[in-house]
Amino acid sequence: MAEFKRIGVLTSGGDAPGMNAAVRAVTRLALYKGVEVYGIYNGYQGLIDGQIKQLGARDVSYIINRGGTMLYTARCPEFKTKEGVEKAAAKAREFGLDGIVTIGGDGTFRGAVDLTDAGIPCIGIPGTIDNDIASTEMTIGFDTAMNTVVDLVDKLRDTSESHSRCTIVEVMGRDAGDIALNTAIAVGAVTTVIKEIPTDFDHVFEKMIEARRAGKRNFIIITAEGMGREYGEELTQLIEKRTGIEARFARLAHIQRGGSPTLQDRVLATKMGCAAVESLVSGQMKKVVCQRHNSIITMDIHDALQVDKLMKGKLSKEEQNKIPPNIMYDMKKIVAEKEAYKQYLNYIIDHITL
Ligand code: ADP
Ligand code: F6P
Repeated sequence: MAEFKRIGVLTSGGDAPGMNAAVRAVTRLALYKGVEVYGIYNGYQGLIDGQIKQLGARDVSYIINRGGTMLYTARCPEFKTKEGVEKAAAKAREFGLDGIVTIGGDGTFRGAVDLTDAGIPCIGIPGTIDNDIASTEMTIGFDTAMNTVVDLVDKLRDTSESHSRCTIVEVMGRDAGDIALNTAIAVGAVTTVIKEIPTDFDHVFEKMIEARRAGKRNFIIITAEGMGREYGEELTQLIEKRTGIEARFARLAHIQRGGSPTLQDRVLATKMGCAAVESLVSGQMKKVVCQRHNSIITMDIHDALQVDKLMKGKLSKEEQNKIPPNIMYDMKKIVAEKEAYKQYLNYIIDHITL
């Protein structure tokens, strides 16, 4: 088993509140275990460029409460090439890094697999506001982003009520409607529109017209970014046309990614950061840290990526045929549970909000 004397930590992909709490936990637990920690700035790009600096306990003070990521982040197209990965691995060797904790989304995990294959053991921590990683129930940043959305939509609802309008609010989520579904419940939206579940608009419009007749002034509809760039504006026009209710569109965009992390994100990030260090120093690699049925566990990173592709409908028949039936069974259970949960949330929205 490789001995871990020095590890690196990086954040990559879209930032998420709580990434700092994870960096802090990784640093502090590793130092406690006598392992040196190096911060890699600007994700994989910073690794290639050698933007690497040793971190002491005090370097991560007073960041548990801060949004963004103190290590900064970047998208790095070069890292998707073989040469890019080799450059990054060479730099990790030059700095004597025995392993790297990578905090980010599924793209970051794919990079972690490549880097491990190039001889630098990695372990992934799921950090993205979208909650679109199949292997975990919760990603770091999701809870904070949802709370931000609730706060903002409550404000939009005030003005909708005053003006007797419908406000269509687009929330983030490139591939997943998790933010939309949960926040729709929390703000009392009329409906939510996400890629995963079709919306019966005739039914929604009928309900809105009836409710308006009965005196309802404000209406909130949450749409997920994954519906497409023009979708929200088009829906806004359609609502005015079909219901006669004046409507406005609001895209919340990157404001959802900022701000101080909630208690839940700080605790989740800290637990995951510690679990990553425990795993790495005990010689486990090519793993991702996940939360499943409220426990923090690790999962093989290949399996995690495959279950993710299965959930997103990106796992080809050929790839599926190569997976042993027992693993496929477990993967399908994970995906089915997520899908059923979304159906359940959608059912609630549909049945109690008008
Ligand atoms: P996220 O990690 O939030 O999904 P991205 O998809 O942008 O965000 O991925 C972050 C970074 O991870 C990319 O900029 C790239 O450097 C690396 N990455 C993404 N996809 C791959 C891939 N298929 N192979 C290797 N590295 C990848
Ligand atoms: O992955 C998180 C996320 O905020 C997505 O919801 C969104 O599609 C994307 O990142 C936006 O990325 P960028 O910061 O590059 O505009």
